[in-house]
Amino acid sequence: MVKLWRCEICGDPYIGESAPDNCPFCGAHKKYIKEAKEANVNFDVELNEKDKANAERALQVEISNAAFYFCAAEKTDDEEGKLLFKVLGKVEAEHASVWRKILKLDSIPKGDDPCHVSNKENLEDSHARETRAIEFYKKAAEESENPRVKQIFEALVEVETDHLKLSEERLK
Ligand SMILES: [Fe+2]
Ligand SMILES: [Fe+2]
Ligand SMILES: [Zn+2]
Repeated sequence: MVKLWRCEICGDPYIGESAPDNCPFCGAHKKYIKEAKEANVNFDVELNEKDKANAERALQVEISNAAFYFCAAEKTDDEEGKLLFKVLGKVEAEHASVWRKILKLDSIPKGDDPCHVSNKENLEDSHARETRAIEFYKKAAEESENPRVKQIFEALVEVETDHLKLSEERLK
């Protein structure tokens, strides 16, 4: 029987017989996907100065990475590479929207990051971007005393690590 599921990280709903292994929108792992009526989703959090600064920086990172991936999805000289960059762009844009909600912003600017034509160069750029995001999110998770902010940063460390592994696999 189909059910309605909800991701506790991005808040988006999903219809299916069972919970997906990863949120199709933000990539959060299965443990964050609950039946919609039981999901605990909250974007109304009180941010201290440190959390606010980290959330603002995270928003910029995600806007920038989404723009890079959408550019790469257009230009890359490899069909499968294009598909990978397209889905990465969508996931990073969803991450940007999580921070937009946490920061209570009505809209967010579009990034204009450049990219390469060569699939390999874009994979290397992706690898560097994901590595930087993981390091920053790990630190931000440790620094936060707010359980919701900590939870989001920790969930995103897992998602960006999945992205890093994909680029590593393809660079071999
Ligand atoms: Fe991200
Ligand atoms: Fe990523
Ligand atoms: Zn999600």
